Amino acid sequence: MERLPGFRDFYPEPLPHPDVWSADIRQHIFEKWRATACRYGFREYDGPPLEPLELFTTKSGEEIVGQLYNFTDKGERAVSLRPEMTPTLARMVAAHERNYKKPIKWFAIPQLFRYERQQKGRLREHFQFNADLIGESDPAADAELIALLIDTLRAFGLTSEDFVIRLSSRNAWYDFFKQGGGDMAHEYAFYQIIDKLEREAPEHSDQKLRAIGFSLEAVNQFIEKGEPTVELKTILDNLTARGLRDFVKIDYKVIRGLAYYTGVVFEAFDRKGEFRAIAGGGRYDNLVKLISGDKVNLPALGFGMGDVVLTELLRARGRLPKFDSPMDVFVLIEDEALRSISLKLIHDLRAAGYAVEYPLTPAKPDKQFKRAMDLKVAHTARMDNDAYVRIRNLKTREEVVTGLADTANHLS
Ligand code: HAM
Repeated sequence: MERLPGFRDFYPEPLPHPDVWSADIRQHIFEKWRATACRYGFREYDGPPLEPLELFTTKSGEEIVGQLYNFTDKGERAVSLRPEMTPTLARMVAAHERNYKKPIKWFAIPQLFRYERQQKGRLREHFQFNADLIGESDPAADAELIALLIDTLRAFGLTSEDFVIRLSSRNAWYDFFKQGGGDMAHEYAFYQIIDKLEREAPEHSDQKLRAIGFSLEAVNQFIEKGEPTVELKTILDNLTARGLRDFVKIDYKVIRGLAYYTGVVFEAFDRKGEFRAIAGGGRYDNLVKLISGDKVNLPALGFGMGDVVLTELLRARGRLPKFDSPMDVFVLIEDEALRSISLKLIHDLRAAGYAVEYPLTPAKPDKQFKRAMDLKVAHTARMDNDAYVRIRNLKTREEVVTGLADTANHLS
């Protein structure tokens, strides 16, 4: 049986085949994501992987709706696997916002599902680090979130030479659109054209722009000028004060595809432009209101960073650590008469927090020792008799004999 296209198998390292993904790398990425979010005071939340279809059809916009993994469940409900986390977050916050002091700073690491055309950096399932800040409209919140995005990537050893945050604003484009006499009925269509500029032929974009009263030339001039709005200037100053100015640039080519963004938007890209977006996000000040049916109105912003492009980038830049076996001790059982007391030793060491491996069934001493070497353990331990343990440091080759009860202390 083959796995479905666009889905991944995660194996422990060393990887058996180039076509599979590393469970160790995934764990490494999750740990960095969690640790950085916690340093910034974000708390972890989660929601259901399956949601009512309606949560996504009205709020996320055409592009995502076309990629939904949806079906009718056995109770005749129209449901969908989650293609993104933001609508779930908006629903959860709206339901219990009174319980939390504002601003709410939350993160999650959901697995998301999109029935996309498979291509480099895009699969039908991915894990996405989401960090969102709810209940604060000041640009200080935008700067805080962008700083978190930058520091998350720096936690992997990436520098301002490896990636850049392209910062933009739907407000800037909204002003452009209004001043150019745009009809509000075409506002979202206009944003969609801007979002696709880099992926579509210029003639095609120009044609679509002309249909709603604009031209590619005027759009390109506006992008080239790249004049930051007051709000964007405030954010740049805030990031400069943190020493993070080198990581951001104003780039109005970014506008984001999702329908709900309202203000500042941004995307993280590798500097060489080899990969798809590493992360993307922005302000969505109306989504909580929309999802709560006008009951709760809270400004919000956030970003999502996927594991697929990040892994590709870290591999290409040599920023992935080696994943050796995490075992501390191998307990040798050379005399089967000592197996019972060895099991006690193994159990005591594990209770004391050591990672311990041993032969499950009788095995020749040289085989056991080879296994210990393969696992790259720091120590072997062996019961000399019912009361004494012989510990060997494999690096220094030092050997000590200690009482059974003292073994854990000795290792520390
Ligand atoms: P998004 O731009 O759709 O935003 O996704 C964010 C990131 O997730 C992308 O930059 C990419 O790294 C990764 N990603 C998206 N789709 C795929 C895919 N099919 N395969 C692999 N990686 C993928 C959102 O989802 C927003 N909800 C983010 C957000 C949070 N905005 C505010 N809060």
